[in-house]
Amino acid sequence: MKANLKTKDGQALHKSRRAFLGTLSLALPAGLLLTSACNRGGGQGDKFVIGFSQANKAEPWRTWMDVTLMKYAAQHPQLQIAYADAQQDNSKQVADVENFFRQRVDLLIISPNEAKPLTGVVKRVFESGIPVIVLDRSIEGDSYTTFIGANNREIGKAAGEYAAQLLSGKGNVVEIKGLPGSTPAIDRSEGFREAVAAHPGIKIVADPVADWLRDKGREQAEAALRANEKIDLVYGHNDPMAMGAYLAATAMNRAAGLKIIGIDGLPGPEGGAKAVLDGKLDATFLYPNCGKEAIDTALKILNKEQTPRKITPSTERITKENAAQFVSQ
Ligand code: FRU
Repeated sequence: MKANLKTKDGQALHKSRRAFLGTLSLALPAGLLLTSACNRGGGQGDKFVIGFSQANKAEPWRTWMDVTLMKYAAQHPQLQIAYADAQQDNSKQVADVENFFRQRVDLLIISPNEAKPLTGVVKRVFESGIPVIVLDRSIEGDSYTTFIGANNREIGKAAGEYAAQLLSGKGNVVEIKGLPGSTPAIDRSEGFREAVAAHPGIKIVADPVADWLRDKGREQAEAALRANEKIDLVYGHNDPMAMGAYLAATAMNRAAGLKIIGIDGLPGPEGGAKAVLDGKLDATFLYPNCGKEAIDTALKILNKEQTPRKITPSTERITKENAAQFVSQ
């Protein structure tokens, strides 16, 4: 089926899109929101409408992605973003994508909450001829035009190698896992375990799930610290959960000598890079937000240029030595 690349029935689309744009309440510059609002109506058929289905907008890394993506989108007046926040709810995200589908958006960008529940609806959209860009968390199979995301298995492996180095090959580890059905949680775990398997002196004594959330990470770290007298290192699949572990260990007087590794490396005063600089985390790994790559790729697809099936932005280890440069990015 031919891709519906241009907005033909502008009026109908614009009217029904009002609902999405009305609920858009990201932490975005006010000017950007105004621009989006002005682009509506008027029956302009010359805009490309991109439906952007985000897994949630509560987590700081997601806000970073949203703000970056919106910033680059705003540089291209021919693009209009309709945003939907799935609020960490797979069924809501399926409904959000179905909505975009019914409205025949010109392109779908999705960062799926979990892989399996979103696979069917994304496949349907893709097979109908609407191009699909999947960001950061994947679906099952490859029913998309382009997947953009760093290599989580490699990040997990690098975290495992660094853990082994920090522990000189010996010690008890707690691994705090992200949402089990999301692909980065699976890959970050497998990569880490592959690396530490080369060090028989390292034992993973607990591996609770904390769904990517700081408060759950804190609860789970507290339980693991209580259950195990000797914990030498905590590996959190993201910085919020790693910070949860830091808060738990500090409150329990167990932080001295405890090593903590996270992933994300967000800039800014609340980000993981600053936590490394301040000595709260021993290391984190940059997890690029893919916002710019998403817009660059969307433009290529909409202009009928070829794009690769996979784009893999690079990562970097952040330790005290290089953290300052990541804080200010
Ligand atoms: C945000 C987040 C990040 C993590 C990514 C994995 O929702 O949990 O912290 O790196 O998702 O998909």
